[in-house]
Amino acid sequence: MADELKIIATTKEDKYKELIPQLKALLETEEDLIANMANVCAALKQSFNFWWVGFYLIKNNQLVLGPFQGPVACTRINYGKGVCGKSWELNKTLIVPNVDEFEGHIACSSLSKSEIVIPIKDKNNTIIGVLDIDSEFLNHFNETDEMFLKQILQFIFK
Ligand code: SME
Repeated sequence: MADELKIIATTKEDKYKELIPQLKALLETEEDLIANMANVCAALKQSFNFWWVGFYLIKNNQLVLGPFQGPVACTRINYGKGVCGKSWELNKTLIVPNVDEFEGHIACSSLSKSEIVIPIKDKNNTIIGVLDIDSEFLNHFNETDEMFLKQILQFIFK
């Protein structure tokens, strides 16, 4: 890819459509997972200005904070706890329009209002972590985000 991302679209869907080929080109030239996760966080933060974008990876039966962009965050999340732990337990994407209405939500930042958490699978289809994106706006995520974010995860965890 070029030296920097070029995103000129204004709608969310069009931004993803511009971002995805550029991100694919960036990720497919590198095999290191940490490097690729770090660039995914930066690209999503830069393109959408999400409040917080980051990875949690399963280590010793806990989710442990990985590469992220945004304010400092809680380091460890137990199975079934918070939105991230619940997404791990249920092995499914959770879209939370209002985090205050999600029982057990872990408020790393009081400014976070809505979020999406997507489980990450390895090539054997075993869950190895989650991608967590938070917004300071209510109801900020929908199935469009889920679809495009899953495509992006495929570039790294294939
Ligand atoms: N929102 C998460 C905790 C992680 S922070 O938002 C970065 C949750 O309830 O799982």
